[in-house]
Amino acid sequence: MLRILLAGFGVVGRSLAEILVERSEELRRGEGLNIRIIGIIDSGGAAVYERGLNLEEMIKTKKKSGSVSHHDDYGRPGLNVLDLLDELEVDVLVDATPTNLSNGEPSYTYIRKALASRIHVVTVNKGPLALALPALKELAKHKDVIFRFSGSVGGGLPVIEFARQCARGDEIIKIEGVLNGTTNYIISRMEDGLEFEAALQEAQERGYAEKDPSLDIRGLDTAAKLVILANEVLGIKATINDVHIKGIEELRKKEIDEAIRSGETYRLIGRVDSGLEVKPTRIKREDPLAVRYSMNAVSFTTMNSGVHVILGRGAGGRETATAILRDLIEIKKKLVEVKV
Ligand code: HSE
Repeated sequence: MLRILLAGFGVVGRSLAEILVERSEELRRGEGLNIRIIGIIDSGGAAVYERGLNLEEMIKTKKKSGSVSHHDDYGRPGLNVLDLLDELEVDVLVDATPTNLSNGEPSYTYIRKALASRIHVVTVNKGPLALALPALKELAKHKDVIFRFSGSVGGGLPVIEFARQCARGDEIIKIEGVLNGTTNYIISRMEDGLEFEAALQEAQERGYAEKDPSLDIRGLDTAAKLVILANEVLGIKATINDVHIKGIEELRKKEIDEAIRSGETYRLIGRVDSGLEVKPTRIKREDPLAVRYSMNAVSFTTMNSGVHVILGRGAGGRETATAILRDLIEIKKKLVEVKV
């Protein structure tokens, strides 16, 4: 049994709750994953029940009143993640709070406190990872706890796991990819004839965009994911300050249309080899990275086995929540191995 504290009840947190309502029994039988969500925290406060919150009720309360802390029986207005890490017996902190790329807060403090208290952590928040991944990994190792962040790159797409497979017995020398669903969706819809603002609004309505969508548009979200890949896959101890970043804010419809007429297309591409760079790049329409809408595509160039590409939906609540489940299954497996 994993006792979970869920920080953040936005698109991703709620999607996780929905999937658990639908699939708990299947996950228990198929994967042996037995989850009890004992606390949920959103911007208004918390809901706490150590025997396991009723997730359907939590989703309803959030929808009706804007915060789980308004629940009649289990609501605890004003409480935050740090309070609950102190108060409850937690096995895993699941962090689905909004990304802040200026200083990673408050997620950075939550993760540090959990790891320091020997609580395993699953996060999809890119802020702390883009700013301090090497230090957080070090802390997790020192405290002998598991720290996973599969959903931070590629939404539901297992990009990090795929990269590990590509590198087995080989060496990855370059990573290139479309790592942001929102900007890819915007460019694709502009190719369909929409104006930028309308395309952005659609991406927001579909739950792809960050709470602050300028992180997507200015290329910062792509840069954060590139940093995570550089650290995890190439062992480069980079932070977001090492990335040259240009977003799509200056990309005009005129340029997009002109590229299409020449059988080409623009994609916001992140690249890491000798340096780290994000910029709108003109590529052939048949290039494997020329994916459309919310798709991500990442190519790994290896020393001996050629180029490997992974494609799939890179943003969205359910997609990212699935990556959280994948991490929880891994944690459960590792804990069982340790016991054996
Ligand atoms: N805003 C992000 C994107 C969400 O559009 O890709 C997934 O990380």
